[in-house]
Amino acid sequence: MTAARASRLRVVVTAGPTREYVDPVRYISNESSGRMGFEIAAEAARRGHRVTLSTGPVVLETPPGVSRVDVVSARDMLAALRRAFRSADVLYMSAAVADWRPARRLSGKWRKKDSGGETARIDLVKNPDILASVARAKGSRVVVGFALETGNGERRAKAKLRRKNLDYVVLNDASALNARRTTVTILGRDGSRKSLKGRPKRDVARVLVDLAAARQG
Ligand code: CTP
Repeated sequence: MTAARASRLRVVVTAGPTREYVDPVRYISNESSGRMGFEIAAEAARRGHRVTLSTGPVVLETPPGVSRVDVVSARDMLAALRRAFRSADVLYMSAAVADWRPARRLSGKWRKKDSGGETARIDLVKNPDILASVARAKGSRVVVGFALETGNGERRAKAKLRRKNLDYVVLNDASALNARRTTVTILGRDGSRKSLKGRPKRDVARVLVDLAAARQG
């Protein structure tokens, strides 16, 4: 029996994009499909762990045995995660959280004439960094973050690992968004480094679930 099977962990996964509304029908978001997080949740549930999946708006089916919490904005996700994290052993933060949200959400539709001329602007304010905020006092929990970088992002990913108090950071690039396969480098706080090239997200999920389960023992 492997260590992963020996203990039933409480696993929390976040997935998908967040949506930050400008008015009742328009929002700022990104290309994330949620697949990576859903694969992690599915894999963890197959191993018998207790899984909570907090997801932004996606078109994916809830994996069997997974308890799903739907959220919309980054602030919704922070509230949901604060509750789930308290009793968690492991967190996989694969959500593509919007860094910014409109300073104001209009209650009625934003009409062209409201802006007057040929240009318009939306003032943005910073969203909370969900991962940094929950991982700050993580105790013995294993926390896995993701870093989407363009170019050679390894140095920046390592900086995120330290700054956000993570055990592992999964470095990927924009080609992972909305794709079935992905190329990742998993960097550990312990100096470990593992590269997986052009692999189905399900394979990457297996490696990630193994890692955290092994850390928990
Ligand atoms: N993240 C988060 N809350 C945010 C932004 C990001 O929890 N407001 C999480 C993501 O889910 C991911 C990790 O932080 O696990 C890194 O996200 P990324 O977008 O790569 O980094 P940022 O911290 O947003 O930094 P930058 O935009 O400078 O690259």
